[in-house]
Amino acid sequence: MRRSFVKKSMAELPSSGIRKFFDMASSIRGVISLGVGEPDFVTPWHIREASVYALEKGYTNYTANSGLAELRKEIGRHLLQKYQVEYNYDKEIIVTVGASEAIDLALRSVIDPGDEVIIPEPCFVSYKPCTAMAGGVFKTIPTREGEHFKLMPQDLEKAITPRSKVLLLSYPNNPTGATMTGKELAQIGRIAQQHDLLVIADEIYSELTFNGEHVSFASLPGMQERTILINGFSKSFAMTGWRIGYAAAPADITAAMLKIHQYTVMCAPIMGQMAALEALKNGNGEVKKMADQYDQRRNLIVNGLRQMGLSCFEPNGAFYAFPSIKKTGMSSGEFCEKLLQEEKVAVVPGSTFGRCGEGYIRCSYASSVEQISEALERMDRFMQRHAKAGVTTSSLSASPYPG
Ligand SMILES: Cc1ncc(COP(=O)(O)O)c(C=O)c1O
Repeated sequence: MRRSFVKKSMAELPSSGIRKFFDMASSIRGVISLGVGEPDFVTPWHIREASVYALEKGYTNYTANSGLAELRKEIGRHLLQKYQVEYNYDKEIIVTVGASEAIDLALRSVIDPGDEVIIPEPCFVSYKPCTAMAGGVFKTIPTREGEHFKLMPQDLEKAITPRSKVLLLSYPNNPTGATMTGKELAQIGRIAQQHDLLVIADEIYSELTFNGEHVSFASLPGMQERTILINGFSKSFAMTGWRIGYAAAPADITAAMLKIHQYTVMCAPIMGQMAALEALKNGNGEVKKMADQYDQRRNLIVNGLRQMGLSCFEPNGAFYAFPSIKKTGMSSGEFCEKLLQEEKVAVVPGSTFGRCGEGYIRCSYASSVEQISEALERMDRFMQRHAKAGVTTSSLSASPYPG
């Protein structure tokens, strides 16, 4: 018998609730999953072809730690053209293994033990664990359906203490689909400035903004010097498996991030970087086509959920709907387990994304129209059985769903 070698903080760190749920779903046959946060599209062919071609030509080596210069230049061009923010490709941009690595690097580069990271909830599952692993203390702020899940300036003010160092902001949001306008973000920016906070802006869903234009936090007046802008290729270009993301930040911060990156992963894989280069150069048309399809599915799912009697906030970005299931009287975990067992539909409990996500479920609409329609029919049956007495739900016999 040996002792446990795992350090205490790791033993105590919970693993991702989403993964747990997928494991359960994958053991049941005939499940329709609206659980994954991943495009159902295959990476467009010209992007795959660029990578195949790179392999054929023998590009199998390490790249510069911060990534291929050509790719960083292209990222710089993209940010300048889209958001009018200028970054020096050599000193201020780093190519990472997905946005996930960029989040980790950002937090590890700036957090001293005990520094506080303010995180609006519900939020992406990695933010709190990565903060904890960086030695920081997370302070969550609930966002609310009645306020369209936006970060309210007064809530931010209240959460700030002398130990606050970072605000971790993510709009369009996973899991709510909420977005924030430039004006609203500028209010947050002013507070960040007053309290000298760094903002880590995870904008991975920027291209999936359905009403209005995405405003990058770094493009707001005075914000570039206190923003680590994070983005990547997974969601917009359907490139989750390629594992390419990036961070753009002031040179002192990028230099710190680069130290961790060079000692831990060296560089992102060259084949993925080659593909990302092609994506940025020639992939915009496909991004637009995929976004249009998500938009149609968004309408389908939101209308369907509302028709079955669930109140569903209108998501303006990303590819998630976040309906309230409070009227069923079930917890979100209980709802999801029952729905999976009885109707074989996998969705994610809102509580996975923070305490204030309780009472909601996350339904990804990055699935085909047929799959979404079938899932909605199954969910409607489920709601007919489980809607609480006195609460009427409409049947899908008058279904607006195609297929
Ligand atoms: C908000 C958010 N940030 C980051 C990521 C990770 O993206 P990547 O695949 O680039 O690591 C995800 C993935 O679901 C996400 O939802």
